[in-house]
Amino acid sequence: EYLEIEPIINGQAMRMKIDPRTSLADLLREQLGLTGTKIGCNQGACGACTVHLDGMRVNSCLTLAIQTDGLEVTTIEGLGTENEFHPVQGAFMMHDGFQCGYCTSGQIMSAVMVLKENHAATTEEIQEWMSGNICRCGAYKGIVAAVEAARD
Ligand code: FES
Repeated sequence: EYLEIEPIINGQAMRMKIDPRTSLADLLREQLGLTGTKIGCNQGACGACTVHLDGMRVNSCLTLAIQTDGLEVTTIEGLGTENEFHPVQGAFMMHDGFQCGYCTSGQIMSAVMVLKENHAATTEEIQEWMSGNICRCGAYKGIVAAVEAARD
């Protein structure tokens, strides 16, 4: 049985009927076409699917779409525009905070929140608070440099 939910996605109030088993990641990617959010492990271990839910970062693969009813969801598409990047997006570009780019949306969504929550005072603190976002290419040096640049 489908349930009706009313999330606010990237600032836009929506109403939709969904299968209650649908993950937030699948809702975003398959039903809304917001494919900037990536699925890596699909079990909460890699962080590729990180989005913001009411000001907190969540793994959208482990979040049920119905949990977003009445709440604000922000994805990478809601962060900057093609003409104007969010400062953290700009910092990732400046400092090569990626290689293949697959994990980048999740890295940036995490970084925005880590900075907002002031968990980026030192390199070690950044590494610790960004540790839920895995980069298979090992672009960690650039990622940390980008977070530091966006902080300063
Ligand atoms: Fe969600 Fe890996 S795809 S944590």
